Amino acid sequence: MKNRVALVTGGMGGIGSAICRHLATHGAKVIASYNKSGNHEAAKEWQAQQLAEGYDTHIYYVDVTDFQSCANLIKQIEEKFGAIDILVNNAGITCDTQLYKMDIDQWQSVLRTNLDSIFNVTRNVINKMIKHRYGRIINISSISGQKGQYGQVNYAASKAGIHGFTKSLAQEVAHNGITVNTISPGYIETQMVMAIPESVREKIIAQIPVGRFGKPEEIAQAVGFLAAESSGFITGSNLTINGGQYLT
Ligand SMILES: NC(=O)c1ccc[n+]([C@@H]2O[C@H](COP(=O)([O-])OP(=O)(O)OC[C@H]3O[C@@H](n4cnc5c(N)ncnc54)[C@H](OP(=O)(O)O)[C@@H]3O)[C@@H](O)[C@H]2O)c1
Repeated sequence: MKNRVALVTGGMGGIGSAICRHLATHGAKVIASYNKSGNHEAAKEWQAQQLAEGYDTHIYYVDVTDFQSCANLIKQIEEKFGAIDILVNNAGITCDTQLYKMDIDQWQSVLRTNLDSIFNVTRNVINKMIKHRYGRIINISSISGQKGQYGQVNYAASKAGIHGFTKSLAQEVAHNGITVNTISPGYIETQMVMAIPESVREKIIAQIPVGRFGKPEEIAQAVGFLAAESSGFITGSNLTINGGQYLT
């Protein structure tokens, strides 16, 4: 993937940062998009930290829930780097509660961030990929989108929706040299998961046959595999990475 232009949405998060580092290590020109509620200084600090560790990553602000914001992001990237070759739709949020307590904002914010975002970003990228007859699109879903999860009707619905998007788009653009795949992580050792009380974490680990949480680098490695030029025959698939917790 040397010199391929790669955009990772939510590129400064736990999994996103690992994806950015992995793609950079393999020679891609990596762009991490961030939101951080508009805190551009925090984004610059992340960028400086990456650089100090040897990863030269470009950064751009976006609100993935907003189509025009995504259009602006892609326009800026294309003007500076040319067409995007690798798109990793990774931005996502949770807002957990049981349905009987869930308000419309909790539903809409999760659907807009996790599912509308896939349309908002990919729609702005796809025409250039078709024109260049090359592309690798990797959508980050979740184990919750496969098996459902108590307290996550919004999150599970949004992540399940990604599979329909992936499989449909894969069929539409396969003849243009573009692959579209989904990765469904189980519990990954990010700040979000490590913030769960230890006693609860122990109960979760007991349900994972491998006996531990996954590492962000293990998701990043799978992204790198699907993003490689040599993975051109893999499309419309879902890669389950959950330590054996849920097998389809
Ligand atoms: N951690 C797990 O165990 C796990 C398991 C299964 C699936 N996943 C999925 O993996 C992906 C990454 O999760 P993570 O654990 O790395 O979480 P994270 O650290 O919270 O990263 C999520 C990223 O999404 C970005 N984001 C949120 N709202 C946004 C918006 N409106 N516009 C643009 N960017 C926005 C955030 O950007 P800023 O920080 O810049 O605001 C953040 O960096 C998510 O899609 C998540 O659902 C995670």
